[in-house]
Amino acid sequence: MVVNDLVKLSRRDEIAIVTIDNPPVNALSPGVPEGILSCIEQAASNGAVKAIVVIGAGTTFIAGADIREFGKIVAGEAPASNLPEIICKIEDCLKPVVMALHGTAFGGGLEVAMGGHFRVMAANGLVGQPEVKIGLIPGAGGTQRLPRLAGIELALEMCAFGEPIGAKAALESGLVNRIIEGDLLEGAIAFAREAIHKPISKTRDRRGKLKEVDPRYFSAAVDKAKATKRGQVAPLEAIDAVESSLRLFERGCELEREAFARCLHSSQSAAMIHAFFGERTVAKIPDIGKDTPVMKVKKAAVVGAGTMGGGIAMNYANAGIPVILKETDQKALDKGINTIRSNYANSVRKGRFDWAEMERRMAFITPQLTYDGFEEADVITEAVFEGMELKKQIFAELDAVAKPTCILASNTSTLDIDEIASATKRPEMVVGHHFFSPANVMRLLEVVRGKATSKEVIASSMALGKKLTKVAVLAGNSRGFIGNRMVHVYLREAQFLVEEGASVEEINATLYDFGFAMGPLAMTDLAGIDVGWRIRQESKHLEKPGVRIPLISDKLYELGRYGQKTFRGFSRYDTHRVATPDPEIPYVIAEAIAGTGIVPRQIDRSEILDRCLYALINEGAKLLEEGVALRAVDIDIVYLNGYAFPAWRGGPMFYADSVGLPQVLARIEEFERQHGSDLWAPAPLLKRLAESGGKFHAS
Ligand code: NAI
Repeated sequence: MVVNDLVKLSRRDEIAIVTIDNPPVNALSPGVPEGILSCIEQAASNGAVKAIVVIGAGTTFIAGADIREFGKIVAGEAPASNLPEIICKIEDCLKPVVMALHGTAFGGGLEVAMGGHFRVMAANGLVGQPEVKIGLIPGAGGTQRLPRLAGIELALEMCAFGEPIGAKAALESGLVNRIIEGDLLEGAIAFAREAIHKPISKTRDRRGKLKEVDPRYFSAAVDKAKATKRGQVAPLEAIDAVESSLRLFERGCELEREAFARCLHSSQSAAMIHAFFGERTVAKIPDIGKDTPVMKVKKAAVVGAGTMGGGIAMNYANAGIPVILKETDQKALDKGINTIRSNYANSVRKGRFDWAEMERRMAFITPQLTYDGFEEADVITEAVFEGMELKKQIFAELDAVAKPTCILASNTSTLDIDEIASATKRPEMVVGHHFFSPANVMRLLEVVRGKATSKEVIASSMALGKKLTKVAVLAGNSRGFIGNRMVHVYLREAQFLVEEGASVEEINATLYDFGFAMGPLAMTDLAGIDVGWRIRQESKHLEKPGVRIPLISDKLYELGRYGQKTFRGFSRYDTHRVATPDPEIPYVIAEAIAGTGIVPRQIDRSEILDRCLYALINEGAKLLEEGVALRAVDIDIVYLNGYAFPAWRGGPMFYADSVGLPQVLARIEEFERQHGSDLWAPAPLLKRLAESGGKFHAS
């Protein structure tokens, strides 16, 4: 019998089976919660039914809420379903309800599952309350029922930090009653038959686990939230909500709902939901249809086993793709392999996987000094030193050895992909695969499109990014592509500000307090002042005479102050890389600006913030106009995943929209008057949008 299209009721002898069938992930779209309840109520009133199994069709139980519904509520619509009430009604059923979980029972899915009297779980399933990842907290009793089933400590961890747990941990905690190794439905039916004879209790009436509370759980969770989710409101709200589970259930639910509403109407959840959908949007490229053939990558090769090449090879190994790692000499090759080993060993020590898994991954990497086997590679990534002549030489060599269908990718951070491609007879196969450092950790991959790059190569690169668990964003072939072209002006302003009188510490603290993982000058010290210097040498010809350039970093370079690696840069570093102010810096600055006419002055935090951020935004607007970035959201995703822009601010372009473009433009025009049009002329697109009441993200 069909109750609605989304939920179906069937029966196996005395067991009723409620199947949620809302592909692709059985999200709680309008009609799903009602369908489940209606099926359960029908089954309950059928005298032949003794117990009920609820299961998801396809690959998962309910994977979560329908996130688009949240937007409607924020816009003023009433929620389509009263989920908290529906879950209570499921819980009220007088016949045992067994929830059968597989795939990802997340968010509202887990909340529904906790409304059942029992839960069984597939061995490879996951359960979680990941709402904090979009700036929310569970809103249908999750913070109240999870502590009752799994204990306060685990509930805090799951609700405040959003990471899922597997079947074993779920069983040990009491969240699920049995792990099913074979067929989930059969296992659930067998469990339901046993449950007919068991007493049933409502989750909301259970208080046993609440008695095991230790007040330190809450303070520890708050400390962790402040350290790892800095600036975010939802994790703290989640902690308070879990704490309120110690009160009467109804009161706890009320407090949870109030907190949920505060989060839902906050700018933070708007920003994080924007990023959530943004990650899906960036995969879509307007002129490359879904039917574009995607080349299979079964074998890979990487040239250069340095900082980037080693990390890139790890990505392939992690994805189970055999990869050849080529170097010029044995010493560099050994160094590269040792670094990979020690990175993997760190992961083992942190408990991410075991030693056997590490060896399995290492076995995918073949270190060597020749091009042997390159003829079989489906993709080759070049990651040698940043120099055009060297890159062209390598690409000519690759052209000679690679098979015709091989994707030839460069990891260059700034160089012209078309010029690199010109060293081959197949520019259509050449593309940029710009990974970010550390390449085995950072999620961003800029796929850089040259003028000849084929659509198949782009589509295949985007698909490969996904396989490597990256967020791939398409960028045009402009110097620095999206991310580095923007960061260039951001770091430029930070350096100008030092030269004009702001302290290194004040600049770093301002951007850190805004939410960046580190300040711009700390970032420069980490990346290496020598690296920036080398890039500037390659681009001297692009400098316009008479236009101000930062002088301080060249001065630091001349003094051998390369940043963290030499323990001195803009700051001083101890052996643990902890920064302290360097009393020599004011003298270095004075020397750098001698004869320039710059008169140091007091600079407040709002100027520091606006100069750095608005430079970023203005450059972003230019990239949009030039088509280097396809959409404003592409820029946001680049910044969120490659430059640690605070997640809860949604990325630079989203932030600009939230400040208001007329205000951003007015400030940029003020900077233009002070510092000249060469540096601060407003991007025409920004001007047009600000004057017409538009936004970067058309809503
Ligand atoms: P690196 O200096 O750590 O490594 C380069 C490696 O290439 C060295 O081990 C060198 O021995 C090797 N090499 C040079 N010529 C070779 C050849 N003919 N055959 C095989 N190996 C050769 O440099 P890094 O930092 O890994 O940079 C590599 C590329 O990645 C550059 O184009 C750089 O701009 C880019 N990049 C660097 C990032 C970073 O943060 N370090 C971030 C993103 C891109």
